[in-house]
Amino acid sequence: MRYAIQAEGLAKRYGETRALDGVDLAVPQGRLLGVLGPNGAGKTTAVRILATLLRPDEGRAAVGGFDVTKDAHRVRSLIGLTGQYAAVDEMLTGVENLMMIGRLLGMSRADSRRRAEELLARFDLSEAGGRATKTYSGGMRRRLDLAASLVGRPQVLFLDEPTTGLDPRSRTELWSVVRGLMADGVTVLLTTQYLEEADQLADDIVVFDHGKVIASGTSDELKATTGAQILEVRPLEAAHLDLVAQVVTDVIGETPDLDGGRVTVSVHDPAAVPAVVRRLDDLGVVATELALRKSSLDEVFLALTGHRAEEPAGEKEEVFA
Ligand SMILES: Nc1ncnc2c1ncn2[C@@H]1O[C@H](COP(=O)(O)OP(=O)(O)OP(=O)(O)O)[C@@H](O)[C@H]1O
Ligand SMILES: [Mg+2]
Repeated sequence: MRYAIQAEGLAKRYGETRALDGVDLAVPQGRLLGVLGPNGAGKTTAVRILATLLRPDEGRAAVGGFDVTKDAHRVRSLIGLTGQYAAVDEMLTGVENLMMIGRLLGMSRADSRRRAEELLARFDLSEAGGRATKTYSGGMRRRLDLAASLVGRPQVLFLDEPTTGLDPRSRTELWSVVRGLMADGVTVLLTTQYLEEADQLADDIVVFDHGKVIASGTSDELKATTGAQILEVRPLEAAHLDLVAQVVTDVIGETPDLDGGRVTVSVHDPAAVPAVVRRLDDLGVVATELALRKSSLDEVFLALTGHRAEEPAGEKEEVFA
């Protein structure tokens, strides 16, 4: 298989901090790899190395078959990067920002204007294109940022937390743009702290923690690693909650969570579920909700790391409440 992005044993230290501590990655052409990890896990460090902005202390990496340190200029001609922090020039308009990049990439004035207008239309920014970007909302800036990384029609795109700080609607819009790029055959490496985002977009996911890959696989594979499905039972009458918990404890042999009028428990043997149903029926307990589902990525993350994926800094809205 041909890999658009390949890394082996990447390591980077800052004093005592091991930002990356021996990371391997392989992204087949045309796929999207989700790099999931909490604050300080090493996501941006990995992106910066792959995008030729930072040299690794150890290990090697290739993008589009070119070594990121020895053939950095060739790598740069293939890639686009949307950094974690908006990189647009506030004083310039949307059109000017995109045209400037086109000119830097060696396009003619006419071509760079055409490309700028095409991208602004695609990101629903045509009307705002003539305005200084300091007047843009956060979501508009992120879209312009993404547009900026596409001016040179990259084959490989790095998106470092592209939706952090966006409201749910802007986030969904950005997801659909990313899906469009994947449909065009672009290879994408996207970092995120949102488990849902990796679930929505990624073909494959690697989980970073403290500079190491602690798990990898498809979303389904990762969910299967906890080796459990989740049984949820919500009794019609809240007064029955303790009774349901007792039945679940007896039959499943695990202590359930009681949260929001619902009993939740990990189930390793799905065959035990009918016994729970029978016992509840015998006791005359009516359930308004009874579901056996795969664990969420959130639960997987918790099981892998022993802690929850932190909320992105400065983010008020809780996505995984
Ligand atoms: N230039 C630097 N100087 C010193 N330490 C650094 C530098 N860059 C990163 N680090 C440290 O390396 C570790 C990994 O940082 P990195 O920015 O790669 O994490 P991240 O996964 O992108 O986090 P976030 O989700 O907060 O963006 C952190 O402990 C960070 O403090
Ligand atoms: Mg980062």
